Amino acid sequence: MKIEGLKVYFSTPKGDVRAVDDVDLEVEKGEIIGLVGESGSGKSTLALAVMRLIYPPGRIAGGKILFEGTDILSIPINEYVRQFRWKKIAMVFQASMNSFSPTFKIKDQFFETLKVHGYEGDYWERTKELLSMVNLDPSIADKYPHELSGGQKQRAFIALAIAMKPKLLIADEPTTALDVVTQIQMLRLFKRLRDEEGISVLFITHDIALLSMITDRIYVMYAGKVVEGGNVEDVIKTPAHPYTSALISSIPTLDKTSVKGIPGSLPSLINPPKGCRFEPRCPVKLPVCSEKEPETFRVGDKHYAACWRLAPDRA
Ligand SMILES: Nc1ncnc2c1ncn2[C@@H]1O[C@H](COP(=O)(O)OP(=O)(O)O)[C@@H](O)[C@H]1O
Ligand SMILES: [Mg+2]
Repeated sequence: MKIEGLKVYFSTPKGDVRAVDDVDLEVEKGEIIGLVGESGSGKSTLALAVMRLIYPPGRIAGGKILFEGTDILSIPINEYVRQFRWKKIAMVFQASMNSFSPTFKIKDQFFETLKVHGYEGDYWERTKELLSMVNLDPSIADKYPHELSGGQKQRAFIALAIAMKPKLLIADEPTTALDVVTQIQMLRLFKRLRDEEGISVLFITHDIALLSMITDRIYVMYAGKVVEGGNVEDVIKTPAHPYTSALISSIPTLDKTSVKGIPGSLPSLINPPKGCRFEPRCPVKLPVCSEKEPETFRVGDKHYAACWRLAPDRA
């Protein structure tokens, strides 16, 4: 999938909230890509745009999302639903653990999903297969959602999301409510789904520490913009954008007694700063930063950042 110049705006009485504002992002076949940024930076909005789940007052204000050569934003919605949603592109939502219906057994919810999507094959065989893909024993199919742990429910939901063999799975903060051990298991599971089922993953989180464990490349999003992208080791070891550095230094470690948050808060997305959106909070800003939006500069192989400090001709 290749996202080019995506803009998603929400109209409000005070003006448009520019939640996603000219974002480029690519997930190649077989990649596990991380998208990280503080709450409110536009990550979920981007994911919902890929699923075509942006409703008024929201709108796609520009850009393309190319999937296997088709701009999935330009085709009629019914065609998108018939060909892409769940079948090629699936999503695990932020609060999906709670989206099982409490009064039906897990098995019934799998059968219903397979039926709705027109699965041709044996529902029970497929349910068993899906549960084992996510390391769940088929016996849980006979249980009710409340009989499962949080981690089991989350894995069951991932199994449901991949029921129709999607090529891309978007996981929007799927682990936030889970303990650390369960979070790590979840990340291992995504790796296995990639290796064994060939599913690419766009993993969304506000926790940059989690990303160092699995992803190939990461994108750092701030106030509706991608500010840095690159291979995960490059970005974490040698961050090029001051915002990425701030995110990394706010990772709690065992030897740090207190965790530094990033001082200040996200700017208004209705009237964002005219120059760099991080300028008001940036500890190393230059005069140009409040005047002109930063260009994107390459700092290494596939590694780039939008920051004026990287300009080669900086005086
Ligand atoms: N339906 C909506 N109406 C107005 N503003 C919205 C709506 N949905 C999201 N936003 C705004 O878009 C911005 C990005 O939100 P979101 O994509 O949820 O961020 P993230 O997932 O990174 O926390 C926020 O400022 C949020 O308030
Ligand atoms: Mg979100």
